[in-house]
Order: sequence, then C-alpha cells, then structure tokens
Amino acid sequence: MGLQLRSLTMLLLLIWLLPWPIIEAQTPARSLDAILQDYAYRAIVRPRTGITYDGLPPSNFSGIKISAIRLRSGSLYTRGVPNYKEFTIPVGVIEQPYVERLILVYQNLGNWSTVYYPLPGYIYLSPILGLLAYDASNLSAKNLPELPFHATEEPISIEFQQVKPVPDASIAQCVRFDLNGQTNFTDLVSGRICETFKHGHFSIVVKSTTAPSPAPAPPPPQSPPPHGGGNGNGKRVWIIVGAVAGGILLLVLLALLILWIWRLKKKKKMHKMEKAADSGEALQMTTVGNTKAPAASTTRTQPTLETEYVP
Ligand SMILES: *[C@@H]1O[C@H](CO)[C@@H](O)[C@H](O)[C@H]1NC(C)=O
Ligand SMILES: *[C@@H]1O[C@H](CO)[C@@H](O)[C@H](O)[C@H]1NC(C)=O
Ligand SMILES: *[C@@H]1O[C@H](CO)[C@@H](O)[C@H](O)[C@H]1NC(C)=O
Ligand SMILES: *[C@@H]1O[C@H](CO)[C@@H](O)[C@H](O)[C@H]1NC(C)=O
Repeated sequence: MGLQLRSLTMLLLLIWLLPWPIIEAQTPARSLDAILQDYAYRAIVRPRTGITYDGLPPSNFSGIKISAIRLRSGSLYTRGVPNYKEFTIPVGVIEQPYVERLILVYQNLGNWSTVYYPLPGYIYLSPILGLLAYDASNLSAKNLPELPFHATEEPISIEFQQVKPVPDASIAQCVRFDLNGQTNFTDLVSGRICETFKHGHFSIVVKSTTAPSPAPAPPPPQSPPPHGGGNGNGKRVWIIVGAVAGGILLLVLLALLILWIWRLKKKKKMHKMEKAADSGEALQMTTVGNTKAPAASTTRTQPTLETEYVP
C-alpha cells in the first residue's frame, strides 16, 4: 500500500507540474515569421529611419522576399508610409503596445505561399504578402513578439503586383490571415487592390471549382497541399484533443484516489473489527478477496464485501 501511495502521489505531482496551456504549438507560419523577422533585421546595417532595407532570407527559403523599414511611432502615426512595397500606409496607424521605434517587416512569400498558408477550396492569384511590426529597440533580437497595429482613420491599401488573371465565372476576393491563421475574406477595392485595417498576411484568391471541368485550360499548378484544414483549425483541434485527454486522465486519477482512500478506510474498519474480535468472542477469520474478515464459525451467512474493485 505504501508503495502504491507513493507512486500515486508522484503521478499526481507530475500531472500537476505538466504545463497544460503550453499545448499550444507554434504553427509553421509563425516559425517562418520568426525566421524572417531575424533576417529582415539583419538587413538594417546603418540604421536610419524611413529607409527601406531589402533583406535576404536564408538560402533554403529562396523565392521569398523580405524588407524592413524602421520608423518612429510618432512619425508612423502622423505621416504614415506612402510607399512601402505594395503597401500604402495612411496616417493614423497605431501599434499596441506602444514602442518608441518600430520596424515594419514586409514579406513576399512567392512560391512558398501555399506551403505556409494552405487554403483548401481556394486558389491563390497572387503570392502572400505579409506586413508585421516589431519593436526596433534591439536590432539583434530574435523571436520578438509582433506588435499588432491598426489603422484608425483610412485603411491600409495593398496593390498586388503579380496577379494571375481571374478565371471565367470566378470572383476574386481578398483574404487576410491574422496571427492565429484565422482568415477573413473581403471584396477587392478595385482591379488588384485590397484594403485592411490591421497587420497580417494578404493575398487575392478565387474559389476553386472542385468539379473536374472538361475545359482544356488546366488550373494553375498551385493547389494547396493536403494539410487538412487551415493553420488555425489544425492548432485548435490539437488544443482540444490535448485538453480532453488531459481531462480524462485527471478524472481517472481522481477516481483512483477516491477508490484508494475508500479502501484504506474499509481496511481500517476491518482492523478495528479484528481487534474487537480478539478481545471479545472468538470469531473465525476468513478471507474474502484479499481482505481478512471476521466470520462466525457455524451460523450466519458468510461475509462478503459489498464491492471489491480491482482498479
Ligand atoms: C532553413 O534554415 C533555417 C536556418 O537557417 C532553419 O531554421 C529552417 O528550419 C530551415 N527551413 C527549411 C524549410 O529548410
Ligand atoms: C521556390 O523557388 C526557388 C527558386 O526560385 C526554389 O529554390 C525553391 O525550392 C522553391 N520553393 C518551393 C517551395 O517550391
Ligand atoms: C539584443 O538581443 C540579443 C539577442 O537576443 C541579446 O543577446 C542582447 O543582449 C540584446 N541587447 C540588448 C541591449 O538588450
Ligand atoms: C473581416 O474584416 C472586416 C473588414 O475589416 C471586418 O468588418 C469584419 O469584422 C472581419 N470579420 C472577421 C470575422 O474578423
């Protein structure tokens, strides 16, 4: 029993120490953001504000383009950035939490768009473009948290450069991915311009017609890989699975603990009865299950424990 108690206590302690909320795994897209932040920062050699520095991603990510621009928050708010790659940032943009200087990292994921932002049921007409903000106080910092920003007056506009022609009978839409991989679809403002009030990753998409069409023109080769669900969905499923499994495990352990305490109590009671038997009339001991129980030698029914679980 002592050993059992000790192992049970150890198990409970372990469960207690398990970092449950850390089940939230980093998605590939978030890891890519971290890598690109690092490499975009490396492009800023002699830091000056308001200058666009084009960076080079690691060689195993060729096809991706990155840039960085360092700004004072005050200047971002009062002047905006009229011409930052495909983005036009109006006045009135605020980041949260406030920092004195920030860096806007630009990403063009090129042929890696469908790898990191699979979107089942849709076809990308343009590469994914990203616009994220980070604190500029340490240019060699890695794994910086993003500074969410939003436009308080006019929206930020995005004029996509390389847009494939919209297939017949399809309607192009703008898509925005937030940092959790959640999507939001909006209408295009005009030909190849989308608008956003927030940071994120953006592209132009059309719904893919799943029915095989006899038309000779094959669809663009970019079909999302079978990752099963969007980034956010996959992550959420895992969190739910983890939570449910953890809950069940906890319940089982609790049940075991209750059962164990109950059995201990029962055993104590039996012990008392044995003692009473020793001092009083001689009751014959008989074995029920693995528990000794007092029993009269001739008369009465044989004692049985009402329940005898083997966990
Ligand atoms: C590319 O290299 C970086 C380090 O330079 C590494 O962190 C990353 O996982 C690699 N990615 C791929 C897709 O090979
Ligand atoms: C994208 O294109 C580059 C060459 O431009 C290639 O090296 C890279 O492997 C491609 N990436 C993907 C995901 O196909
Ligand atoms: C900047 O970040 C780097 C890498 O995380 C760290 O080693 C360094 O101490 C930081 N510098 C300052 C001034 O915080
Ligand atoms: C999608 O974006 C529009 C415009 O920015 C906004 O009004 C709407 O609330 C967003 N929807 C979701 C689900 O985030």
